[in-house]
Amino acid sequence: MHKTKNDLPQQVRTQVVELCNARLADAIDLQTQCKQAHWNVKGPDFIALHELFDKVNEDVEEYIDLLAERAVQLGGTAEGTVRSAAKRSTLPEYAAKGPTGSDHVEALSSALAAFGKLARQGIDKSSELKDADTADLFTEISRGTDKWLWFVEAHLQAER
Ligand SMILES: [Fe+2]
Repeated sequence: MHKTKNDLPQQVRTQVVELCNARLADAIDLQTQCKQAHWNVKGPDFIALHELFDKVNEDVEEYIDLLAERAVQLGGTAEGTVRSAAKRSTLPEYAAKGPTGSDHVEALSSALAAFGKLARQGIDKSSELKDADTADLFTEISRGTDKWLWFVEAHLQAER
């Protein structure tokens, strides 16, 4: 940990840095899954889904930046290389069963749901550690993730 004049106790900062780096790895994993969907989707809804998946990607890129910079603000080091993300990510591998819109909608909505759950746990964990700012950051991320889950999942909901 680096020295900082930030007044949060060091043992809080250490745990929050660990939490931010754990979710950073997940977010980097999620971002590559958005691009995987963006590139490979095919079918009659191609252009709508191709563009939607890229919009999700853009927001996930912001979550990555928020998480990495929060870790550094608290005196930590952001661990944001692809290799460390691959090692640390807790998300399952991107699981599209085929190239169709519904294959990718199913796969990406599962990834968003898994990440949203982790972000919500991040709110609780940060609140327990009495770091309201990181809790707020996770709230922003989980609110955004829930919105994108809705946008993606809505493509399947009329069929049920
Ligand atoms: Fe593109």
